Amino acid sequence: MEEQRRMPRHVAVILDGNGRWAKEHGVPRKMGHKAGCENLERIVEDAARIGLEYFTVYGFSTENWKRSADEVGALMTLFRYYIERLRKIALANNVRVLSIGDRMKFAPDLVASLNRIEKETKDCTGMTFIMALNYGARDEITRGVRKLAEEIKAGDLQPEDIEESDISSSLDTAGIPDPDLMIRTSGEERISNFLLWQIAYSELYFTDVYWPDFNLDELLRAIDEYERRNRRFGGR
Ligand code: IPE
Ligand code: IPE
Ligand code: MG
Repeated sequence: MEEQRRMPRHVAVILDGNGRWAKEHGVPRKMGHKAGCENLERIVEDAARIGLEYFTVYGFSTENWKRSADEVGALMTLFRYYIERLRKIALANNVRVLSIGDRMKFAPDLVASLNRIEKETKDCTGMTFIMALNYGARDEITRGVRKLAEEIKAGDLQPEDIEESDISSSLDTAGIPDPDLMIRTSGEERISNFLLWQIAYSELYFTDVYWPDFNLDELLRAIDEYERRNRRFGGR
């Protein structure tokens, strides 16, 4: 099966390079994260405008707690501020917002903010914007396996009846189509524990541009490249 010259339905981004952007500009790392949040605001609107159906960004990984308390604290302050701004931007642009990852590790007010943005945008019919926060694919799969094990324990599921679709449904991304295109900025070429199950057949695109500079032109460049590739799904 091949698909040619078709706009991706779902684009996922590993946003990286905020720290190096800050260093290049001679400012503290947290200013790089602020510039990254400002860029995210712009790109969400752009992504909705060009007609993406699903747009996912990796904002904070389960491993990112290992950073200094100062940096983690600065990130949490930015999340609080920008999630509120994003709520208004989403409502103005008919964007439905979802979050994936284990949000229970965040402070209660941040959890409340995430619940609120999901609830208020749930009937928006335009693009779906998915924020991966305290997300790690291994953590997501582990939580999913626990859910299936509970179903088996309760007698609602037999081990031999487990299908791939049961695994997909047990993940935070249940009901969301797999990404067609996965982008990573900043020149790093690894997946860093993002959507491991879901990217089985995604096209991968790497760019040297640091996240705060990844603008609409850069997104369109990635989509152009995607449209030029012949997608294969294991067939001829
Ligand atoms: C990405 O930028 C943002 C997060 C992971 C929170 P980095 O902070 O990883 O930037 P670099 O990799 O140090 O440049
Ligand atoms: C990946 O970026 C995580 C996010 C984008 C949130 P990192 O900068 O944390 O990843 P590594 O450490 O380079 O793999
Ligand atoms: Mg990084």
